[in-house]
Amino acid sequence: MENTLKSQIDLKRLPKHIAIIMDGNGRWAKKQGKIRTFGHENGVKAVRDTTEACAELGIEYLTLYAFSTENWNRPKYEVNALMRLLVKTINAETKTLNKNNIRLQAIGDLDSLPKATREELQQAIDNTSSNTRMTLVLALSYSSKWEIMNAVKKLTEAVKKSEINPTDITEHSLEKHLCTAGMPDPELMIRTSGEHRISNFLLWQLAYAEFYFTETLWPDFSKQHLYEAILDYQNRERRFGKTSEQIK
Ligand code: FPP
Repeated sequence: MENTLKSQIDLKRLPKHIAIIMDGNGRWAKKQGKIRTFGHENGVKAVRDTTEACAELGIEYLTLYAFSTENWNRPKYEVNALMRLLVKTINAETKTLNKNNIRLQAIGDLDSLPKATREELQQAIDNTSSNTRMTLVLALSYSSKWEIMNAVKKLTEAVKKSEINPTDITEHSLEKHLCTAGMPDPELMIRTSGEHRISNFLLWQLAYAEFYFTETLWPDFSKQHLYEAILDYQNRERRFGKTSEQIK
């Protein structure tokens, strides 16, 4: 089944960048009478499978929303457990990332992460920085409004120092100050667990992305689910504001 789906994918029309809101860990755990953190622990396998599937296909960028700015408001025990899980996972997976030539990057307010998480993350980013097959981007303590506000602040400072004229500001000048500077915009955004929201994720970068929603809870998300999402994406017509005839 998995192979059949995979073989239907047109490798010449792959999205360069896929972004995923990994949602439903808590509900997955609750369904089995377990605490929420059990869901996060089981979400790691889905992270591994999805990363592997993307690298195998030849996707260039995969961005995973692992922790939002708003997630800091969760109960302290859950926040702590998530931070510990991040350190543990990054530590355990760095070798595999290197073996598979995958570079790790992170976007978000990384200064707000606990010291141990920040240091572990930085080490993994440094250790994988010369890998070229795919870039795995973790969105951590990330929120898009925070990111855009930061970019505006930096632009304003540049104007104040007369480095740039307000009339010369373009989309590109703002993009240079986003956390994603230098990355292509995601063409496909996937959200699991049946929620149809964007939740402060890559608001600028998703301007023309195709959205794919699935009822599957994140810990159940497999390579096959990813292939389904890509096939759905490939069956859509992306018009970028033009008419259907203009595209053809
Ligand atoms: C959303 O489910 C999931 C998160 C907030 C955390 C995602 C983290 C992982 C999968 C752990 C490891 C990740 C990496 C990249 C190493 P939820 O808790 O909002 O679920 P609910 O909506 O059912 O409550």
